Amino acid sequence: MTISAWWRDAVIYQIYPRSWADADGDGVGDLPGITARLPHLAALGVDAVWLSPFYTSPQHDAGYDVADYRDVDPLFGTLDDFDAMTATAHDFGLRVVVDIVPNHSSDEHAWFRAALASPPGSPERARYLFRDGRGAAGDEPPNNWQSMFGGPAWTRVTEADGSPGQWYLHLFDTTQPDFDWTNDEVRDELEDVLRFWLDRGVDGFRIDVAHGLVKAEGLPDGDLDHDANADATALTPMWDQPGVHDIYRRWRKLADSYAAEGQDADRILCAEAWVLPAEALARYVREDELHQSFNFEYLMTPWLADDQRATITRSLAHAEAVGAPQTWVLSNHDVVRHATRLGYRQQPGLQRIEGIGPDDPQPDTALGLRRARAATAVMLALPGSAYLFQGEELGLPEATRLPGEVRQDPTFARTGGASKGRDGCRVPVPWEDGVPSFGFGPADAAWLPQPAEYGELAVDRQIGRPDSTLMLYTELLALRKELRLGRGTLTWLDGYPADVLAFLVTSSEGSVTVLANLGDVALALSDGADVLASSLSRHDSTFIATDETVWLRR
Ligand code: NOJ
Repeated sequence: MTISAWWRDAVIYQIYPRSWADADGDGVGDLPGITARLPHLAALGVDAVWLSPFYTSPQHDAGYDVADYRDVDPLFGTLDDFDAMTATAHDFGLRVVVDIVPNHSSDEHAWFRAALASPPGSPERARYLFRDGRGAAGDEPPNNWQSMFGGPAWTRVTEADGSPGQWYLHLFDTTQPDFDWTNDEVRDELEDVLRFWLDRGVDGFRIDVAHGLVKAEGLPDGDLDHDANADATALTPMWDQPGVHDIYRRWRKLADSYAAEGQDADRILCAEAWVLPAEALARYVREDELHQSFNFEYLMTPWLADDQRATITRSLAHAEAVGAPQTWVLSNHDVVRHATRLGYRQQPGLQRIEGIGPDDPQPDTALGLRRARAATAVMLALPGSAYLFQGEELGLPEATRLPGEVRQDPTFARTGGASKGRDGCRVPVPWEDGVPSFGFGPADAAWLPQPAEYGELAVDRQIGRPDSTLMLYTELLALRKELRLGRGTLTWLDGYPADVLAFLVTSSEGSVTVLANLGDVALALSDGADVLASSLSRHDSTFIATDETVWLRR
């Protein structure tokens, strides 16, 4: 039931709890740290936070391996800390979205331990995807699926009597066994977990691997590789199976049962689904399903005018066809930060890069930041909702020179270092220049080393500095809110060069003309142009430079 539907134009800020703010000085961020730093987000002007997992976990995949869905890992604090954080956020007018990881648990979850201790065919095993191996001795995996983190997606267990036994499926790390979603016990349990956090007052969930829960019947051989996730248009047996939609119809009913009529109380569900094309993704946000689904096609679109225009047009059309808002995103904890991505030469076609190491070609940092600011100024004008990833408001680049020995992403180890993994975007945030850990915590400790150049990008260096990235984000967010751009409609404008994105966004509160110059030459502005904001923090009304976006009062 739609009430005021706050989420339709919300800007939601992703906190990666390990890396945002560390209250106890152990080098890992925590919930009390988050509570203490919430004023930063109130000043920035976002509407909500989304927290990556802070649940009990052995941390083999930074908490995306959950051992207890109803508790906080001591690394991050306690349930009381969570309640205090939520209450403080609500006092600041910030809503709280948490992560739910329904595709797999940790191998330390009580259910998986019970499964290992029970015989093949038992109800305990039926909560996961255990299968006999292929070959006469059963010593080959049940099918050819590969783990997203490298290596086979199956691991063989040793049975209680010491004999080599069945295999279990894990689309990710060995320590992340996939649930069997054909089992009602699994459905009931995860719905109960949703209720647990809804009862604690959360405003919604980001659903991890939302397109993976249901696998094709019989688990047929497929075509799982890293790219399949990024550009598959074909149905693969582990992704985007029609059955997932039934799960989300049930979840939507559950969420709606918490939304009190007459108040702005919608509890939302947002899919992390790497699904293409846009039409297939839009199925996740049909009226009786999820509220939002990250637009990763947009994230992967290069900074080229034709590509940007095509993706934005297609995305808006497909969302509108099902009555949903678009959910724009440029960075998160799984991809190279956009300030770095855009510091490389842009080529047509979708791109997903997951890690850069010291021996790889390095980005042009200044160019990357300039384009990132321009890209953000496009995104924040677009109708719909937008997600920001912690640190992008500071213009943080990826840490591209992390040595192998500090890397913790399982991808790095599982591919023998061939894939650098995602640690580079997860480095702890700098709050203050000139102090240990750049003010991340009270001690000189950070679970990943912070590059020296993070110092000058620290929050305290940017506050009040009119040309800083932080002030640009603050200004754009305020204008976006004032003009209600997120509820607006977009019209492309004719009469501009092909490498300029030119569009008008009109809402009940006003209009803004957005011009982004992706070309090589400056574009002259017509006389009397009234510049509301510029991604270069210039208020020159005579021209737009290369890689600059301006918002003009219409
Ligand atoms: C997507 C999450 O964003 C990522 O960090 C995680 O590794 C995988 N899902 C597995 O849970």
